Amino acid sequence: MKMLQEKITHEGIVLSEEVLKVDSFLNHQVDPQLMQAIGHEFAERFGQEGITKILTIESSGIAPSVMAGLTLGVPVIFARKRASLTLNQNLLSAEVKSFTKKETNTISVSGDFLTAGDTLLIIDDFLANGQAALGLLDIAEKAGAKVAGIGIVIEKGFQPGGQLLRNRGVRVESLAIVESLNGGHVTFRKEAQP
Ligand code: G4P
Ligand code: NA
Ligand code: NA
Repeated sequence: MKMLQEKITHEGIVLSEEVLKVDSFLNHQVDPQLMQAIGHEFAERFGQEGITKILTIESSGIAPSVMAGLTLGVPVIFARKRASLTLNQNLLSAEVKSFTKKETNTISVSGDFLTAGDTLLIIDDFLANGQAALGLLDIAEKAGAKVAGIGIVIEKGFQPGGQLLRNRGVRVESLAIVESLNGGHVTFRKEAQP
């Protein structure tokens, strides 16, 4: 997606050979126009799949998901990473390992909002090791819901998440695939295809 690649090129900060900071439009400050374009793009790619709901994870998955949900005309549900005062019944949960933080977290969604009749589009901001996406797939499976695919804003193609998910037969659509961050420079994969 050209608009996204240009934004990454102009505003992304390469923190190391593995980490790209995009706090000016995705992870801290949010660019609503870009999010709207991202939402349209996801809706275009998954519009024929009979999506009934979008499943994401707090916090940075919410903005692109809401814009996709607006275009597709479906609700968005975000998995929570912490216990909540009000979200404590009928929970569907999964364990998510974080390689970066070397810890395991439980993520949860209420079974009231995910059912066996749902066809889900899973969306997240980054795809690195794929653990968050695996956790969301696990929750979808526990709900008995169908997963039409996974939409990712920025995939780091040099980390194993993308291949891990595609090897499972899941359709993964990434709007930008970063091939490398070597030399402080962002290089994109030419074809953002599986
Ligand atoms: P994984 O799900 O792909 O296995 O991700 P990992 O544990 O490696 O990443 C943990 C957090 O770091 C996630 O955000 C993920 O989106 C983010 N992340 C991973 N690589 C990058 C990167 O290169 N740049 C940026 N900006 N973020 C990255 P989170 O902790 O869930 O936070 P948030 O959703 O509240 O922003
Ligand atoms: Na994130
Ligand atoms: Na995220």
